[in-house]
Amino acid sequence: MPYENILVDTRGRVGLITLNRPKQLNALNDRLMDELGEALLAFDADEGIGAIVITGSEKAFAAGADIAAMAGWSYMDVHRSQYITRNWETIRRVRKPVIAAVAGFALGGGCELAMMCDIVIAADSARFGQPEIKLGVIPGAGGTQRLPRAVSKAKAMDLCLTARLMDAAEAERSGLVSRVVPADRLLDEALAAAQIIAGFSLPSVMMAKEAINRAYEVPLAEGVTFERRVFHSLFATEDQKEGMAAFLEKRAPQFRHR
Ligand code: HXC
Repeated sequence: MPYENILVDTRGRVGLITLNRPKQLNALNDRLMDELGEALLAFDADEGIGAIVITGSEKAFAAGADIAAMAGWSYMDVHRSQYITRNWETIRRVRKPVIAAVAGFALGGGCELAMMCDIVIAADSARFGQPEIKLGVIPGAGGTQRLPRAVSKAKAMDLCLTARLMDAAEAERSGLVSRVVPADRLLDEALAAAQIIAGFSLPSVMMAKEAINRAYEVPLAEGVTFERRVFHSLFATEDQKEGMAAFLEKRAPQFRHR
């Protein structure tokens, strides 16, 4: 089925997904989230793809969950809904790295979507926030949990309770984004980073992602043990032999499992 709310493209070994409801500033409705999940899983399963970039428009990465769609919902509608519980979780099942390339507004669910990605690269025009409190609700896709981990409790409280927006410079200072680039360079920078990742050995890329994510789930000692086991296991790959041999022979590695 063709997608209606996203554009899907490939650039070399990178899968590119563009959120595409420009009139609604990429407000995230059920259909869009279904399509996003489907496209992410398809790229994750595609042997020709080593990393994924999600981006939006110049004006908005995404201005949040679709308020028009949610406005009339009752408690039981939300409780029973597959929305949020099902299609918002899909991105967490993706094993390849996902980069959010954010320009303009990343608010509410848009900020939460960016935080579900592995790396956030921001244009200098980017503005992040969790303004749900203005609507009489709170973040519902992980914002109250991921934001304090990303930017500290103090700043998360500030953003969630006052609804103020954070510009790209503050987001970088606070640790929410890994780099800020001029808006006209955003997609090129994100694709270049993704291309670099996609050139490495996929098992080590996926294990690095998995191990870093463990840091947010388990106590330090368990995380370190997990890392050690995974580190050991990579010595069973041909790509470890190739990577180290290439270094010693002063040549570029030819990774087999990409
Ligand atoms: C539905 C939205 C929308 C949204 C913008 N639009 N955000 N529609 N859901 N989240 C629509 C507007 O209604 C408008 O439609 C069009 O997009 C352009 O928006 P404007 O407001 O006219 O643009 P501007 O004045 O530039 O203001 C931009 C903005 C503002 C500051 C981003 O749109 C805004 O505050 N949006 C809502 C942000 C927000 O509260 N997000 C949190 C949502 S709750 P028309 O038809 O009038 O042109 C959430 C919960 C997540 O995300 C829970 C997990 C699932």
